[in-house]
Amino acid sequence: MPHDPRTGFDLAETDRLLTTTKQVRQRLDLTRAVPHDVLLECIEVAGHAPMGGNLERNRWMIIDDPATKAAIATRFAEVGRPYLASNAELRVDQRSQHVIDSATFLVDHLAEVPALVLSLRLDRAPLHLSQGQAAAYYGSVLPGVWSFQLAARARGIGSAWTTFHLEHEAEIAELLGIPPTVTQVCLLAVGYYTGDSFTPAPRRPAQEITFLNRWKQPVV
Ligand SMILES: Cc1cc2nc3c(=O)[nH]c(=O)nc-3n(C[C@H](O)[C@H](O)[C@H](O)COP(=O)(O)O)c2cc1C
Repeated sequence: MPHDPRTGFDLAETDRLLTTTKQVRQRLDLTRAVPHDVLLECIEVAGHAPMGGNLERNRWMIIDDPATKAAIATRFAEVGRPYLASNAELRVDQRSQHVIDSATFLVDHLAEVPALVLSLRLDRAPLHLSQGQAAAYYGSVLPGVWSFQLAARARGIGSAWTTFHLEHEAEIAELLGIPPTVTQVCLLAVGYYTGDSFTPAPRRPAQEITFLNRWKQPVV
């Protein structure tokens, strides 16, 4: 695939980044620190993701203090361990089996992960969100999280998107000095990855999941 003549983008490289940025857990190098300036670069890139009204109500926190990571890891395991153990029925095929094994590894090792990166939003969602409000609320933060993961991947840094600890959001907020007016959106486990043999996961073809003009009408 050539460079796009108008944009100059190397399409093969761009698509390789987009299709091989995986959730990395077992291949995080637990022995190598991730410099703050590299994480800030990724956050800088992530700041260009779309946000409703361009309001920039997103915030980030890098957590690499060992005692703080250990306290978060305890809360994470309290939710993650029983969830993963009780969801044996999710092990429907080899791939889902691998995700559960990988997630279990992270539960066991979260405290050793070099950096935890917390994505935050500066306000609380209204108590009863309509579908549209929920879409706009989380949709104004989550694209940036994915951009962070892409920027990190290009720099040799893997990350894993997690939400287990959010069941204990208030306790974690207190631990980190986060005011109750702020929402935690997700926690990325971040570290340099070992090896570089990430391959695209099997996904349904676009043709199968896309309709033209009318529900279920195929694109021809
Ligand atoms: C909203 C959301 C929440 C997730 N929560 C967790 C989590 O708490 N723990 C975990 O190990 N993985 C979590 N994951 C990752 C998924 O379980 C799964 O590994 C991932 O979607 C597979 O992506 P991959 O093809 O990039 O590996 C979460 C992903 C998303 C998008």
